[in-house]
Amino acid sequence: MKLSEYMFLFVFFSFIGWILEVIFRSFNARAFVNPGFLKGSYLPIYGIGALILTFCAAHLQESSLPVKGLVYLFVTTGLEFITGFIFDGCLRLPLWDYSGQRFRIKNYVCLQFSIYWLILAFAFEYLVLPVYLSFFDLLNPVAVHIFAIVVPGVMFADWTVRFAKIIWEKKGKGRLLSGDDESEFMNIAKPLIDHPDVQRLADFRHHHYKTRFDHSLEVAWHSFLISRKLSLDCDATVRGALLHDLFFYDWLREGPRLHGFRHPRISLKNAREVTVLSKKEEDIIIKHMWPLTIIPPRYPESWVVCFVDTYCTMRDYVTGNGKVRVPK
Ligand SMILES: [Fe+2]
Ligand SMILES: [Fe+2]
Repeated sequence: MKLSEYMFLFVFFSFIGWILEVIFRSFNARAFVNPGFLKGSYLPIYGIGALILTFCAAHLQESSLPVKGLVYLFVTTGLEFITGFIFDGCLRLPLWDYSGQRFRIKNYVCLQFSIYWLILAFAFEYLVLPVYLSFFDLLNPVAVHIFAIVVPGVMFADWTVRFAKIIWEKKGKGRLLSGDDESEFMNIAKPLIDHPDVQRLADFRHHHYKTRFDHSLEVAWHSFLISRKLSLDCDATVRGALLHDLFFYDWLREGPRLHGFRHPRISLKNAREVTVLSKKEEDIIIKHMWPLTIIPPRYPESWVVCFVDTYCTMRDYVTGNGKVRVPK
């Protein structure tokens, strides 16, 4: 299968999973329930599950049913556990709760639902996948390509906005901020903020109405709050975020062609002249425009800055309301 075919499969089963959950949850609640974390009509956990099961089915064709069963049980329960751990354990945002179930691990997985997933995994291989592949053969390849690029892009934007909103709401309730946060942030950021090259960013407008300095500071601040919450490397996060857009031209009127693709490398070159960068800080700068940069970020801190930068940029353009307080 090609990459676009995998992406299409991911999107297709994210949608099918959403329908299944809507039916199951709405039936239990006797009212319409939109399941999951995202606004759109998709549940990526099902898309990821379908991708994993398709991969397993392709590689376990010669295996016996018990071996397949064990693998399916392990991967589906593992996926549910990891998702539960991220949303419930890290973000304190439980999407489901097995606290009333017997034979469970935390509230993330339980034996009863693991057996359901096992049955669904076999149904997926022997009933759903053959029908899907026949259906897929009927589709126009160009439409598949477009669909496979556009919809994951929308899902990514949806995820970024929702994630940032939740972090922001938690911050508002005082769950992220402590009295020492601002001084810790400034201890890391001050040497770079005071550097003349970083100060020069205040001479360039960015996202129409704010300066590139304000944008960089804002991205650094929100990335710091998230990294702190996730126990990541706050030093690298703040330093990489402050330098991620260190270029000195008005990209709307001048600068290189394909600015979106090229400015991370220009920023990295300039940043190396400002300070000695760690591998992680370099990765944060060079990958902050992913997926435009194709190769995905290597470190969690790079993902955080990438998401926050995307969120701040989208918010600036969509709402025109980017005046958020950051430490000065
Ligand atoms: Fe950028
Ligand atoms: Fe940026």
